[in-house]
Amino acid sequence: MKPFSKRMSRLGTENAFSVVSKAKKFEREELAPKGEKLVYLQIGEPAFDTPANIKEAGVKAIQANQTHYAPSPGIMDLRQAIADTASKNACEKYGWEDVIVTPGGKPIMFYMINALIDPGNEVIIPNPGYPIYESVVSYLGGTVVPLPLLEEKDFNFTLEDLKKLITPKTKMIVINTPQNPTGGVLTKEVLEGMTKLAVENDLWVLSDEIYDRIVYEGEHVSITKFPGMPQRTIMLNGCSKAYAMTGWRLGWGVTKSKEMVAAMEQLLINDVSCTPTMVQAAGLEALRGPQNAVEDMKKEYQKRRDLLVSLVNDVPGMSCKLPKGAFYLFVNVKPILAKLGINASKFADRVMREAKMVILPGTAFGSYGEGYIRFSYVSSEADIKEGMKRLKDFVVKVYK
Ligand SMILES: Cc1ncc(COP(=O)(O)O)c(C=O)c1O
Repeated sequence: MKPFSKRMSRLGTENAFSVVSKAKKFEREELAPKGEKLVYLQIGEPAFDTPANIKEAGVKAIQANQTHYAPSPGIMDLRQAIADTASKNACEKYGWEDVIVTPGGKPIMFYMINALIDPGNEVIIPNPGYPIYESVVSYLGGTVVPLPLLEEKDFNFTLEDLKKLITPKTKMIVINTPQNPTGGVLTKEVLEGMTKLAVENDLWVLSDEIYDRIVYEGEHVSITKFPGMPQRTIMLNGCSKAYAMTGWRLGWGVTKSKEMVAAMEQLLINDVSCTPTMVQAAGLEALRGPQNAVEDMKKEYQKRRDLLVSLVNDVPGMSCKLPKGAFYLFVNVKPILAKLGINASKFADRVMREAKMVILPGTAFGSYGEGYIRFSYVSSEADIKEGMKRLKDFVVKVYK
């Protein structure tokens, strides 16, 4: 057979998904015969069900035969609701025409990077960071320039750090706040300072704000709050995390660049034609309906975060600070890795096989994640307690 394209070899993946397949296989073949199970603390999947009012809106839409193609960039009412919501965090008012609706937030990354990046263009990407940014830039022949997010800087970066990475070839910067995998939140000062750099160097910004409703202290700050940014920023968001709607696949991009909306619409037409119509009806209810479920889920995540942080800091050789947002904990395990003489990936594998618990190595999010593991604390309190008991027993045994 003739080979796949060269660019296919540059496409990465999202380990949170591939690790689950590996874990399920191990569980079925090796643990199930002994009546044992794994504890999963790895995936960014809200443990709650979609709120009832949203589910009803989806069901009603199907019954009302909203089962046909929708306009490619999205249903007008939903685009307006998204524009109204995004305007609350921005320095300008967005209109429906500034919004493009997609099946999940992820396609916005694919479309924006596709619209902008030619071979040789540089893209500054947080590291550790959500792996799809890097994957898509490499796939398209762009050059990935990592922006280190270090624990000693509270998983933030300084304007000096950023300035050093900008060259005449830089076309785009990706930011993500609150952040996956560190739970870090970019400060207002950094976001405001970045604005000047972006304007001076004529850069596009992909601002991934999918966790904007899960901030534990203070208010979410969007880079679109600063003048000049709505024109050069695509603000990515969606229903997956805030409304526990991961399986519905509903996301969006918002920008004041008309050309970018048109380019993304063209890519979307080539790709999926439109986002499912009944899903958009459910999304409209999510945005326009009562918001108490979002707050209730956040309170629950906060309780689980506090529990997990205290349990992790009780394990010898492990340490972490209290994350400010999202539902992830990025834990320093460097002393344990040094003692065992292994890397984070090998450690995560041993934790699965020997502690019977699934977490992700920090390196699933880039090279600066070496020395760390990522937990997701969306699981039930019972799972968190059981998983941490197993992990502590394992670590106490191997790290003395
Ligand atoms: C930072 C970040 N952006 C985007 C996404 C993708 O969201 P969606 O499931 O809506 O495509 C995720 C999912 O885990 C994420 O962590």
